[in-house]
Amino acid sequence: MSAASDVWFPRLAERAQAGPSELSAVLALAASGGDLVDFSGGFPDPALFDTRLLAETASKVIETRPEVALQYASNTGLPGLREALRQDVARTQAVTPAEDELIVTSGGVDAMTLISKAMLNVGDAVLVEAPSYLGAFSVFRTHEGRCLSMRNDEHGLVPDSVLDVLEDARMGASRPKFVYVIPDFQNPSGLRLSEDRRERLVEICRQHGLLILEDVAYRDLAYDGSYLRSIYEIGPDVTVQIGTFSKTFTPGTRMGWACGPATVIDAMAQAKTNTDQCAGALGQCILESLLREGHYTQALPRLREAYATRAGALMSAFDAGLRDTATWTVPEGGFFTWLDIPGVDTRRLAEVAVENGLAFVPGAPFFADRTTSSNLRMSFSRTPTDQMAEGVERLVRSIEAVRA
Ligand SMILES: Cc1ncc(COP(=O)(O)O)c(C=O)c1O
Repeated sequence: MSAASDVWFPRLAERAQAGPSELSAVLALAASGGDLVDFSGGFPDPALFDTRLLAETASKVIETRPEVALQYASNTGLPGLREALRQDVARTQAVTPAEDELIVTSGGVDAMTLISKAMLNVGDAVLVEAPSYLGAFSVFRTHEGRCLSMRNDEHGLVPDSVLDVLEDARMGASRPKFVYVIPDFQNPSGLRLSEDRRERLVEICRQHGLLILEDVAYRDLAYDGSYLRSIYEIGPDVTVQIGTFSKTFTPGTRMGWACGPATVIDAMAQAKTNTDQCAGALGQCILESLLREGHYTQALPRLREAYATRAGALMSAFDAGLRDTATWTVPEGGFFTWLDIPGVDTRRLAEVAVENGLAFVPGAPFFADRTTSSNLRMSFSRTPTDQMAEGVERLVRSIEAVRA
């Protein structure tokens, strides 16, 4: 029986009747298993989890601090972790959030949820990149926000396109609330935004009283270990930075943070009392311990090397098999590459590809207007390097089948 014919379906809220989000479809694909060469979800490679250290740390915090680790925490997070996170922000950025300028969240999506609850009235506009992270669209829309696309080119977001969208939005008499940007090894394009463009974006947003929501999910994963000045560092007065440890530590603990102007952070903390009340204290204690003892930063070179190796193997496979068929981005960090296959509807291609034992995410859901697209995203973060060539062969075969 399909959900839509169930007796309870008409009683669901309208937003729930829209059916599974595009994000759920991606996660379902990633979980389908079988003889699949899987480039779908942006999952960290589980082989990189330091399970021994995690088990030791979990035991230690449960044995030594049970009254904290196994108890409710405050809605802003445990004081010790907040202090460690303020220092961690300053590790790569010439700015340290004040005590009331940082909140612990249950990962990155939770941070987006909290800011949406804190800032969006029904119909408020949010400016998003084209393409951008589809999970963010889903959160903004669930909170009755409207996603308006800015423009991206082969170097990432074009900051001046904010002005065009503002002009259009003015005609519609609604003032956008914030601009959502992923400057480092973006999901889905894999691109890193230049410092010049970051500066220009801050300048424009400052001029127009727009808040920037800077998502730094992949900031620690430049393959050469480099960092560019963050948007938060350039414009802390107009930026809320959100981060997650899902990609660099483990998504199993659902740990993230947000830092920015105290008024916004306080409103997010109020919103958290209406969601899960607080991020899980056990995960907070484990993360605090790993940050304080230096294990988090010590692990980064190994992660960078592993993901760089996977990216390199996939790029070689593309060079060998796809040169005449497609173009693609060459990531210098993170999990993703973004392909363009002119003349091919990648939604149709994705269906054929699954029949050929290959999974990726077609491009359309990464655009707020869901235009059909000849793009697709491949996440190579947990695809074994020895499967890359086979995956690209299956892709070529699928393209030929769609074109036939
Ligand atoms: C840019 C970006 N932000 C946030 C998230 C989600 O983070 P979390 O799993 O911590 O909620 C993802 C996951 O794919 C992402 O790519």
